[in-house]
Amino acid sequence: MDGPDDSDPGLAGLSPEFQAMLGGLSGHTAAFAQMLEKRTKASKEVEKEKDDEVYLESYADLAIHEEMLKDTERVKAYRTAIEHFGPTWAEATVVDVGAGTGLLSVFISRAGARKVVAIEASRLSHFLKKVVEENSCSVEVHECLAEDLSLPEKVDAIVSEWMGYCLLFENMLPSVLAVRDQYLKPGGLMLPSKCRLLLAPIQDDHWRQQKVDFWHRVQGIDMSPLMPLATASFCGIPQHHVIDPEKILAPGTCIFEADLHSVQLADLEAFERWLSVCVPSDRRLDGFVAWFECDFAGAATLSTAPSAAATHWKQTAFYLRQPIGGCWVARKDGGVEVKGSVSFQKHPSFSRGYQVSFDLQAPGRKARSEGYELR
Ligand SMILES: C[S@@+](CC[C@H](N)C(=O)[O-])C[C@H]1O[C@@H](n2cnc3c(N)ncnc32)[C@H](O)[C@@H]1O
Repeated sequence: MDGPDDSDPGLAGLSPEFQAMLGGLSGHTAAFAQMLEKRTKASKEVEKEKDDEVYLESYADLAIHEEMLKDTERVKAYRTAIEHFGPTWAEATVVDVGAGTGLLSVFISRAGARKVVAIEASRLSHFLKKVVEENSCSVEVHECLAEDLSLPEKVDAIVSEWMGYCLLFENMLPSVLAVRDQYLKPGGLMLPSKCRLLLAPIQDDHWRQQKVDFWHRVQGIDMSPLMPLATASFCGIPQHHVIDPEKILAPGTCIFEADLHSVQLADLEAFERWLSVCVPSDRRLDGFVAWFECDFAGAATLSTAPSAAATHWKQTAFYLRQPIGGCWVARKDGGVEVKGSVSFQKHPSFSRGYQVSFDLQAPGRKARSEGYELR
């Protein structure tokens, strides 16, 4: 009598020798896949190290610090919050993650903190040391990555200015969370304490005219063959510039929010938010503008909204390759509902960036996807 058939049913009918050979091959394939995965991991780590090097080198350049120090809205929000909590810090240790030129560390020290730990990984840390010395502040400077910080004790508060364009670009927040998870006392304070990213639909005639339609005819020459290139060049990359509030077609929607005391790395990997925006029927949807807001535990807020005073973060505009407008089927209120979603995903090959995509559906139009590289 035949025994139970253990062979892969998919291989039934093949000679036992051939089946054995395929079995060997599948083992080989699995080993190869494992090796590839290891290599991909290793090369991702190398890529990340390179990204980190370039990133930190960019902060060794004084120009970016000048821009940040001259950003009065930014400085005002941090200073107000630090001075608000200063009196409660007489016995406290406060960490400044990414101290740069030392502005916040000196504020914290002057506000009355018992001990300030300033961490700075770029070459600027050399000058940071001198700045705190010169100002006779009790600031302990650690010239290292936040991830490599070694402290003998837990701390009471963490202050950090980690926000990039469109809030998450630069991906510095994970470095702050590394310090939080290792050193913040239970119930300790994070400044900022909360953040949100908002998005609103825009019509931007001036931008489209300058960057895309311009190529239609230049100095009497038909340059329209360049229009697709202009669209690909300028519409695929988010544009960081100030958006006049008049270009906004509907109120902003919050697409991401985080409490800095509890947000996890996984929350920053990818997120998606459904969109439903009402565009007035006599307007055209050229894209979306993003901005962020930060709360400082009730002591201050920082807004980078188009309606707020300008900051060095400006706003981030995502222009559609093909605007949506005209021939609308308007609702009773005269608006047209464009539905869809927006998603952010950590960039697969640039560890400090994101891939952003919009899926949009307008009445009477084909559904479409628009992708952007935030890098
Ligand atoms: C946006 S700047 C803020 C500088 C300063 N706190 C201020 O408010 O003017 C961020 C700083 O963090 C530093 N930085 C970024 N990632 C870091 C990390 N993982 N460890 C230590 N420093 C880091 C950068 O070199 C840069 O100087």
